[in-house]
Amino acid sequence: TPLHDFLKRLPKAEHHLHLEGALSPTLLFELAKRNNISLPTEDSAFNSPDSLQSRYGRFTSLDDFLHYYYFGMSVLIHAHDFEALAWDYFQHASADGVHHAEVFFDPQAHTTRGVSYNTVLSGFESACRRAERELGITTELITCFLRHLPVEDCLATFENEHVQQSYRSGAVKGIGLDSSEVGFPPHLFSEIYEKARKQGLRRTAHAGGEGPVDFIASALDTLGIERIDHGIRLADDADLMAKVAAQGTLLTTCPISNVVLGSVPSIQDLPIRKFLDAGVRFSINSDDPAYFGRYILDNYCSVQESFDLDVQEWGSISRAGIEGSWCGDGRKREIL
Ligand code: ADE
Ligand code: ZN
Repeated sequence: TPLHDFLKRLPKAEHHLHLEGALSPTLLFELAKRNNISLPTEDSAFNSPDSLQSRYGRFTSLDDFLHYYYFGMSVLIHAHDFEALAWDYFQHASADGVHHAEVFFDPQAHTTRGVSYNTVLSGFESACRRAERELGITTELITCFLRHLPVEDCLATFENEHVQQSYRSGAVKGIGLDSSEVGFPPHLFSEIYEKARKQGLRRTAHAGGEGPVDFIASALDTLGIERIDHGIRLADDADLMAKVAAQGTLLTTCPISNVVLGSVPSIQDLPIRKFLDAGVRFSINSDDPAYFGRYILDNYCSVQESFDLDVQEWGSISRAGIEGSWCGDGRKREIL
C-alpha cells in the first residue's frame, strides 16, 4: 500500500475489539493442552493450528464465525490465560500504532461455563496494566451483553455484585451489546442501558452491521448509546445519516470483518466515501483479529487500497477516533 508507513505511524485508537476474538489458533492449542480441554475430533478443522487458521479463512456468516468463537474460548480457564490472550492483542496493537484501546469482553460467555467474572477481569486487568507500563498504551474495558441470551440473563449479569463492583471501581468503563444481531433488536435491552446511564457508565452497542438500519435508530433512541458499533447500514437512510453526522456520534467500523462475515461483498462496497462526504465520524477497527487473520493496520490499509484517501482525510479519521474515545482530554491531547 502506498501510504503504508504513514498509516502505521498515524496515531490510532481502537474501539471495536473483542478480546476473545484475539485468541490465535496457536494460543488456543497451547491452552487446550495445558488445561486438558479436548478439541472436537469430529471437526477436522481442529487437526492443527494451521488447519484451524485456514478454516477461519472460510467463514460463511456471523453465526458460522460465532460457532468457532464460542468454542474457542472454552480453553480459557485461569486468570493468566485471559492475561496471555489480552497481552497477545496489546502487542499486535502497539506494533500497528495503537495508542489507546477500548476493548470488549463477554462476561456471560465465561460465567455460563463456570469461570468466575473476577477470574476473567483480573486476567484482563493484569494485561491492561502491563500494556500501559511496557507499551505506553492506555486501555479501557467494556463488558458486552450477549443478545442471543434471554434478556433476564443479561440483566442479572449487569446487576451481579462483582460486575457492579468493577463498574464502581472504574475497572470497567462501559457496556456494549454483541453476538447475533438479527432477531435480537436493541429495545429488548433498554432497562440495562437506562440503569447504566444513571450509573454514569459509557454506552455502545452493535447495530446496523448484520442487522438493518432501523436497529441504529432504535439503539440511539431506546438505548441512549454514545457510539455505534459497525453501523455501516447507516448509509441506507440519508436522514438518519445527517442526524448522526450532526450529533457527531462515532461509528466503530470493522472493514475486514464486514467482508469476512458477509455483510458486504468487498471493502469497496462499504460506505466510506459516503460517510466522509456526509461528515459522519468513524473509526477503523479489527473486531476479531485472530479469527480474521488481520489486525488494525491491515484494516487501515484495506480501506486505503479501495478508497485511495489523501493524507488530510486520514488525519481527520485519526482525529475523529481519538476525540470519540472515552479517555480524558489530557490523554487525547497527548495522542493527537
Ligand atoms: N462477538 C464477537 N465478535 C462479534 C461480531 N463480529 N459481531 C457480533 N458479535 C461478536
Ligand atoms: Zn464486534
